[in-house]
Amino acid sequence: MKILVVSPKDEVADAMGFLLEGQFQAEVVPVNDSKEAIQELLTEKEFHLIVIKEDPAMAVLLKYIFNSDLGMPLLVLTNKEKRDQLGPEFEALIYGTLSRSTVLDDLKTQVESAIRAGLLSESTENTAYCRIRTALLTKVTPLPGDLYVRISPKKFLRIFKKGDEFSASDLERFLVRKKIEALYFEKKDMASILPILGNSIAHTIKTQASSPESAGVVAGQLSDAVRELNSYLGFTPEVQAIAKEGVKLTLKSIGASPKLGKVLQNLRKAGGDYISSHSLYLANVACCFSLVMDWPSGTTFQKLAHAAFFHDIVLHSHHLAQMQTLAELAKNQNQFSAREIEIYKRHPLFVAELLRRYPEIPPDVEAIILQHHERPDGSGFPRGIKAHQFTPLGALFVIAHDYVSFMYKNRMATVEEFFEFHAPFYTSGHFKKIFEILIKSKEKLGLEKLK
Ligand SMILES: [Fe+2]
Ligand SMILES: [Fe+2]
Repeated sequence: MKILVVSPKDEVADAMGFLLEGQFQAEVVPVNDSKEAIQELLTEKEFHLIVIKEDPAMAVLLKYIFNSDLGMPLLVLTNKEKRDQLGPEFEALIYGTLSRSTVLDDLKTQVESAIRAGLLSESTENTAYCRIRTALLTKVTPLPGDLYVRISPKKFLRIFKKGDEFSASDLERFLVRKKIEALYFEKKDMASILPILGNSIAHTIKTQASSPESAGVVAGQLSDAVRELNSYLGFTPEVQAIAKEGVKLTLKSIGASPKLGKVLQNLRKAGGDYISSHSLYLANVACCFSLVMDWPSGTTFQKLAHAAFFHDIVLHSHHLAQMQTLAELAKNQNQFSAREIEIYKRHPLFVAELLRRYPEIPPDVEAIILQHHERPDGSGFPRGIKAHQFTPLGALFVIAHDYVSFMYKNRMATVEEFFEFHAPFYTSGHFKKIFEILIKSKEKLGLEKLK
């Protein structure tokens, strides 16, 4: 299968090429931008897939593809917000999108799904080696496997051993002096190389966060990365380090005095994947509520930001994560596998278990996470506790979680409608106290300007 990859020459383009060639034996043709892509498509129409990393002229390329009716799957690396701006005619062209922080996993999943759907066919040529661009090798040092140079179509010569360093001077020697653009790993090592590349991309994203707004965006991307990496690596010290950065950036995005009005506006135009954006807004809303309660902000913010960042970290289906109660789950149960439902019902326990191995976690966070799907009337899960058994922070977190979910599902709703709808549920224990203060403190919540 022949794939056109439209992206400036960077780490992400190299990593995508590595995956497509190594995992799917694809022939990858890289071009720098949409203009070069159109030129390529004018002379060579035999591509089976186009992967586009969003660039300013992307709409021109999409228009060209649309008008020339090339009929091949398109994968676009973009965020949801930008995708929504593309317009309905292009929407139909796009087979799938790739999120920046989980680009490799998304690409793998989407290509596999296109193969299963019969839109792409996997190449039958099967070699034991996969190509990696030389420029990427300093990102995966010490080397996770033996490294080879190709000396003939079928002969490979080992030049580095697993565990060796691939230094900047090695890069200079191979890429600049010998002009060797790519070297090879054994395919069996692919599984250990991909997470390292994923980590490296997450690190690059992290260093780009500066303002509170961009800190929020990056926190969301890191939350995606932690979810993905945790699923195939486990909650290793490396994954924990990314999570730590994610929580730090979440706190940065909240600032010293979060206002519900601002959070609500952002929530209404929320981009990104559901779980990451949901976690970020939940952190903001919960901290805003705790400020209204006059709970000491520093430590409380820490606890709430941790709880929000981690609370759904073991879930993978964005649709499943939108289920709030067991009743909602039962209504939609034919959309999920038995295993997904089982994981969902136990995810508060799984996350709490995960965090027990995470030394940074402040006290009380585990209880908040264990309680985030419990309901004051005892109909929640996993334990079915009642209102008076909640901790104060657990109850506040549930109200904040209800608020974020309600506003996500009812984009035009007002906060009064939220209060009105939920009043019958918050009638005892901490729920009653917190809810009464919230109702009385609309101004403090920062809603005075909202209709
Ligand atoms: Fe959850
Ligand atoms: Fe949630």
